[in-house]
Amino acid sequence: MKTPKKLQAKLQERTQKNTLRRLSTEKKTIDFSSNDYLGFAKSETIFNKTHQFLVDRNLQQNGATGSRLLSGNSKLYEEVEAHICTFHNSEAALLFNSGYDANIGFFSSVPQRGDAIFYDEYIHASIRDGINMSNAKSYKFKHNDLDDLAKKINNSSQKLSTLNQDIYIVTESVFSMDGDSPNLQELITFCNKNNYYLVVDEAHALGVFGTHGEGLLQKLGVEQEVFARIYTFGKALGCHGAVILGSNELRTYLVNFARSFVYTTGLSPHAVATIKIAYNELAETIATKQLKDTIATFKQATQQLKFIPSNSAIHCYIISGNKNVKKAATQLQSKGFDVKPIVSPTIPEGKERLRFCLHAYNSTEEIEEMINTLTSVH
Ligand SMILES: Cc1ncc(COP(=O)(O)O)c(C=O)c1O
Repeated sequence: MKTPKKLQAKLQERTQKNTLRRLSTEKKTIDFSSNDYLGFAKSETIFNKTHQFLVDRNLQQNGATGSRLLSGNSKLYEEVEAHICTFHNSEAALLFNSGYDANIGFFSSVPQRGDAIFYDEYIHASIRDGINMSNAKSYKFKHNDLDDLAKKINNSSQKLSTLNQDIYIVTESVFSMDGDSPNLQELITFCNKNNYYLVVDEAHALGVFGTHGEGLLQKLGVEQEVFARIYTFGKALGCHGAVILGSNELRTYLVNFARSFVYTTGLSPHAVATIKIAYNELAETIATKQLKDTIATFKQATQQLKFIPSNSAIHCYIISGNKNVKKAATQLQSKGFDVKPIVSPTIPEGKERLRFCLHAYNSTEEIEEMINTLTSVH
């Protein structure tokens, strides 16, 4: 069957602009690219404990068999949600099949027609997609800029009826493409003062901030001041799925109205058990401490270089132009460093960058060698 001409044209356009995405199975030796910040994805301990847990519980079933509202729910699901509530100090928790599903489910269903959503311009694509599916009006504000947020709310309130209108503010505690963080304390004070609903995606903060990797909100002790929190398990937890934390009422609402929760098969028992074992590991591991050491070593070693300021596991070095950044990445890759170029249209033109993801298992020697190579190629 022939591919429609319009699709071919779009592919050709991407090829010409050097922005065509390709899948690769190649594994480079030194990992500065994966989201496996703590090494949990490769952990034999988690793998074996999960298997044993399922055998001990006689949970020898491969799939959930249906949506959780039909045949797919189980005691295991509820036990894991309760466990996550305790770990993250939350009233309620609802598991989703992925962070993408959690974000589209939340944003497409929670803000209502007549409400307004204000989102940081660098927010993740899954949140943008959810917002696009919502009936609420949406406005973006400048990255991590509270003054601009206040200005945008002020301007929009002239256009919107303020009667019975709820305002949602959305940010990430660690931005996936920059590695930086908003001033959460300031943002919370601002939201509390004005009765706005704050939603924070902690995808890249889980496992990275806090004594046991609880995330940035808990590190700051402000988790109770946020309307909803989103944690994803494909990053530091090394497995799959996500959770939305908030009140019991919010959970009940999502169970009823979040379409990416209602109309999909639940996670398999194996996936849910892996989440539980990964959380157990998080509470005990020394990998969170090792990751903090890696981050400190990296920051020390790159002091003189123009990296975007970051305290997280994500560090970015701007090299403008898709061609230039891809060339630098290829040179680093040829020396054995798995470093990915982030190109437009994923990020705005001119802001192309090399993104370095740091891990508990990156050694000081690896970091030093990689930086020597970077400075010699750029
Ligand atoms: C900030 C943020 N939120 C949500 C997601 C989506 O999570 P998942 O990979 O579990 O779908 C990602 C993944 O890239 C992310 O970076």
